[in-house]
Amino acid sequence: MDWGLRNRLSRVLRPEDGRTVMLAADHGYFLGPTHALEDPRETLRPLIPFADALMITRGVARNCIDPTTQVPLVLRVSGGSTVAGADLADEVITTTMDDAVRLNASAVALSVFVGSAFEGQTLGNLARLVDQGTAVGMPVLGVTAVGKELEKRDARYLALACRVVAELGAHFVKTYYCDGFEDVVAGCPIPVVIAGGPKSGSERDALETAYQAIRQGASGVDMGRNVWQSAHPVPMLRALRAIVHEGASASEAHALWQELSRVPQPTAV
Ligand code: 5RP
Repeated sequence: MDWGLRNRLSRVLRPEDGRTVMLAADHGYFLGPTHALEDPRETLRPLIPFADALMITRGVARNCIDPTTQVPLVLRVSGGSTVAGADLADEVITTTMDDAVRLNASAVALSVFVGSAFEGQTLGNLARLVDQGTAVGMPVLGVTAVGKELEKRDARYLALACRVVAELGAHFVKTYYCDGFEDVVAGCPIPVVIAGGPKSGSERDALETAYQAIRQGASGVDMGRNVWQSAHPVPMLRALRAIVHEGASASEAHALWQELSRVPQPTAV
């Protein structure tokens, strides 16, 4: 890895422990104004000080995020399909590498849909993005998306998808937690972070998922809905930080969430 690429990656995966608490807020690119993310500026403002990185599109970056912010951006650069269209997997690269550099992105993110009708197209997108990223020192996050086929979230499928993402040259991968998650990590030579998926029934459940993922080798989380759709988003993000960076158990993190939820939150770590 070139120095610049390693330097950028170290802004996202913190050098102290190689881990990250990313805040995912790119959902509008295919879901539109999702619940609790109707106004990204308002939703994200109190959360940003507690995120190691922010995963958003260029539209949200330019319109909703203060450019003096110090939070590293992981820029979503794939899209082109929505929940209203025929197939969510039909994605293209939507942002040039020049624009990612202009936005001072610390990494770019792109979804692949392994096993779908658009497998070849989206894996080709990833391979091209890695070539473009390598040329300018930009790390690439490959996202193993499943579209509406949630049943694909098993270890066999996710291990295949993560390994393919790594083989095509991505620098880290985002996937889902599943039973047998340690096999997904064991078969993947790049850091693995987990998405949260739809809002869990309780904060305790989402924290348990994060805890189990970290225990089984994940390098962090990239959660969205389970944070900003929580009744207490800032305490939720801080509870995730306790798991990822401070070795807290799910119970300890949940106790922290409860405690922080009772008091108004400061806006800096
Ligand atoms: C969409 C994404 C989202 O960023 C990802 O799903 C994380 O958000 P959530 O925790 O809400 O699932 O990559 O393709």
